[in-house]
Amino acid sequence: MKLDQKTLKECRIYKMLEKSKQHISFHTPGHKVGKWDITELSFSDNLSAPTGVLAEAERDIAEELGAARSFISTDGSTMGVFAMIYASGACKLLIPKNSHKSVYNACYIMGKRTVVVNNDVLDGIPQPLSPDRISSHLEGVEAVLITYPDYYGNLSDLWAIKKLCEKKGIPLLVDGAHGSAFKGSELHASRFADMWVDGVHKGLPCLTQGAVVSANEKYAEALAEGVDIFRTTSPNYLLMASVEYAVKSRANEKIERAIIKFKEKTGAYQNGDWTKAVYSFGKNAFAAQKYLEKKGIYPEFCDGDNIMFYFSRETKKSELKKLKRVLYRAKKKFPPSLRLTPENVQGRKGLEIEEVPLEGSEGRICAVACGLFPPCTPLVASGERVTADSVEKLMQAENFFGLTVRTDEDGESVRCIQVFKD
Ligand SMILES: Cc1ncc(COP(=O)(O)O)c(C=O)c1O
Repeated sequence: MKLDQKTLKECRIYKMLEKSKQHISFHTPGHKVGKWDITELSFSDNLSAPTGVLAEAERDIAEELGAARSFISTDGSTMGVFAMIYASGACKLLIPKNSHKSVYNACYIMGKRTVVVNNDVLDGIPQPLSPDRISSHLEGVEAVLITYPDYYGNLSDLWAIKKLCEKKGIPLLVDGAHGSAFKGSELHASRFADMWVDGVHKGLPCLTQGAVVSANEKYAEALAEGVDIFRTTSPNYLLMASVEYAVKSRANEKIERAIIKFKEKTGAYQNGDWTKAVYSFGKNAFAAQKYLEKKGIYPEFCDGDNIMFYFSRETKKSELKKLKRVLYRAKKKFPPSLRLTPENVQGRKGLEIEEVPLEGSEGRICAVACGLFPPCTPLVASGERVTADSVEKLMQAENFFGLTVRTDEDGESVRCIQVFKD
């Protein structure tokens, strides 16, 4: 990546490091180079209580991000998530099931109660929570935390969620670990949230671990307290300089447009986030990922069904061209093959069914509802996974429905269940 000289000129931390004189280091870190990677010295300020260059850089960053206050994190978005949950003061938070582990960990360690709301899943991709679903789970909730955008580039309706929170008088927190590329646009978390994280290292040209957590006027002081608790006392200056550079870097509208076109042409999953292209490979996803890597293409992740490619303003048109070529071949070699899951069989006609012995059928997906008789309600409905508990009950029941009874080679009767063929 080539650094933009114009942007560098605006970067206070970089300029301070560049100007600093080579010196003999009797301070940390242990490599003793005495320039660039330094610690808190008379000229380099102190992130824990900044009054100089770092205070100015954080002020600039807040302005860039549309915040009352912003705090640099060299501990990734994780630190930001912890700090904003602390700062919310909420005892009970509503979070979507597909929240990152930092959200769960922060709530656990701080003794917060959570209302974990399940995401609908479409072709293996968790969908954002609708405002209606959120609204029906708000009883006793004191803060709402939304991942936006999510790992697949899905965008929640933050405008409607903000209205719900305002009506209830509770803060909206946004885990924007994947949202920093929206900076300056209508989509950015700053338009909706009381506090939010920008995962700068994921979406902008920044070294790994660089992030920012921000707040509006109301929560600025509480967030400062949270940051002071969770942030390292030894932040890396190169990393901080990189965060400042990335936040100040300019949008590359040409590449954004090219990526949007690329996604349309290659049949990517439809999301609202230009930085993420997702392709479904079903059961062939891991094999396709291996093939792509052999061709020198490394995606962000493969979830076993889908492969996700992450772009940024630094992505080159030539790289998109190569990706298009290799992706086309990968799709031919590894055509999407539907994985059977309860979500995937819903409403799908023409799936093959087979009859298997009930004993040992745990984990399969039931095709014909079965249960005890009476009460004659499904113990396992069509489309549900068979559980060990259901098998045990159905094996013991005197009367049942939805099962067939066969006689095996030894003349023993065997209870059988209809399941979808894998
Ligand atoms: C949604 C989400 N939140 C928070 C985090 C934590 O970010 P970091 O690894 O920068 O600490 C991640 C990391 O992958 C994430 O995906």
